[in-house]
Order: sequence, then structure tokens, then C-alpha cells
Amino acid sequence: MSRPEHQAPPELFYNENEAKKYTQNSRMIDIQVQMSERAIELLALPDDEPHFLLDLGCGSGLSGSVLEDQGHRWVGFDISSAMLDVALEREVEGDLLLGDLGQGLPFRAGAFDGAVSISALQWLCNADKTSHHPTKRLYKFFSSLYSCLSRTARAVFQFYPENSDQMELMTTQAMKAGFFGGVVVDYPNSTKAKKFFLVLMCGGAAPLPKAMVEAEEEERISYSSKRDQLKKMRGKPLKRSKEWILEKKERRRRQGKPTKSDTKYTGRKRSGRF
Ligand SMILES: C[S@@+](CC[C@H](N)C(=O)[O-])C[C@H]1O[C@@H](n2cnc3c(N)ncnc32)[C@H](O)[C@@H]1O
Repeated sequence: MSRPEHQAPPELFYNENEAKKYTQNSRMIDIQVQMSERAIELLALPDDEPHFLLDLGCGSGLSGSVLEDQGHRWVGFDISSAMLDVALEREVEGDLLLGDLGQGLPFRAGAFDGAVSISALQWLCNADKTSHHPTKRLYKFFSSLYSCLSRTARAVFQFYPENSDQMELMTTQAMKAGFFGGVVVDYPNSTKAKKFFLVLMCGGAAPLPKAMVEAEEEERISYSSKRDQLKKMRGKPLKRSKEWILEKKERRRRQGKPTKSDTKYTGRKRSGRF
């Protein structure tokens, strides 16, 4: 099966049907959530403080939900209106912007404490129109990202490189734009679990974070359930439980965002058919 980037431009590939999978396919959702958790870990943000973050290629808001679960505020940017519609339906807390990363980001200098991006960067290596030059688009994207990040910030991209040339193209353009850093490969010897993260740093060269290796894989798989157990122990409601939904709605109301009213059905368990 050919790679999604070879099938259609992202704004067409991520249509309503594709976007639906991000609410229905639990395996896909789990993988996106796990990769988001790892990307946030690689951001190495100072502990226990809320931060203002960017989610690049935020799509249906799965990665954004992980950011808000960890107490952060975020802004999402994506080219597909169908994916952003799903994020709206999900009532995510982040502000959402429709746009093309390859044309650069429209944000104020130094506005963000960090950025994450899950499974989006490889799309910029494609030329979908005669006017598209991947090298120029990557440079425009990375330089606009560099300027809207604070000087201590990091940007972490989980991505699917097609080959080593693509990886070199991305890292070269990122360094040209002013970043330091490189690629961290988790589970390098596993065909299934292998994951690529481009870790970019603004404020000077620092050692790259350590990659995960096979022995840690089992630990990682049970990470979400461990996190839920810990939350429960700390008195926080479990993710997607009734209490969790009510808290989230209350937070939205405090932020003045449109929020559905609570009913006796709020947070009910649906049967497997839905
Ligand atoms: C595999 S999806 C990941 C979705 C998202 N991280 C989530 O949690 O739902 C890749 C996303 O990258 C977005 N994307 C691809 N190319 C883009 C571009 N040039 N500009 C903005 N977004 C882009 C797509 O529209 C899609 O939503």
C-alpha cells in the first residue's frame, strides 16, 4: 500500500471519512496518544507548570487532548478542515487554526514555550503543486517556527521518514533556520515499535535525549494505565470518566467557551455499537 502522502494532498486525503477514523479506530487513537505522550516527555518542560504550546498538524485534537490532560494550554494548526471539525466536535480546549505549515506560521515572536507535532512533518517533503518546493517549504516552516518559540523552547516532531535523504533534508533545513538537535529513534531494532522523533532546541546545543530501547517497551505499553492509576491515587478523575468530563466542561465555561449543558446522560458508557 502506498504512503498517504503519495495518494493525495493532505487537505484532500484527510477528508470526512479519514477524519472519522480518528474517533472510531481505537488502535489508531491509542498509538497517536502514546506518541503524543512520548513527544511531550521529549519536550522536557519544567515540571508542574502549565505551558503554552503549539500542536502542528493537530488534526482531530488527539495530541491536543493529551496536552490539556497534562495541564497545558495549546493552539492547533492544520490544513484539513475535516480533521479540525472532528477536533471541534471533541470540544478540545485549544484554539484551532486552518492553514498550511509550508507557508509558515503566523504567530507573534517568542509566543510559545514549545511545540509538538505527531505524524505530520513527512507531508512537507511532498510537492503537491508545481509551485511546491519541499526544501523551500521546510525552510519557511522551520524559520517561522523558530521565531514564534521562546529561546529555551524545544519542538518535537514524531514523523515517518520515507528514506534517509528525507531525514537529512528535514534536519538540514531545521538547522539552517537556527535550531540545534537531531533525530531520536525509539526501539530501533523493532519493525513495529520503531519511532522517529526530530528533537529541535532553540537555545544552543544540548545532548539529545536518550532513545527508548526494547526492554522498556513493555513498561511503555502499560504507561497509560499506570498514569490512570496514579491519577486515581492523587484524587484526579480518570480520563473520560463522568467526573473528568464534568471538570473539563467546567473549565471550558470558566474560559467563556461554548459548552453543552450537563444532563443525566453526560459521560454515560456507550454500547460497543457506537
Ligand atoms: C496523521 S494526522 C495526525 C493527526 C493529529 N496529530 C491527531 O492527533 O489527530 C496528520 C495531520 O497533519 C496534517 N497536515 C499534513 N500536511 C499539513 C500541512 N502542510 N499543513 C498543516 N497540516 C498538515 C493533516 O491534515 C493531518 O491532520
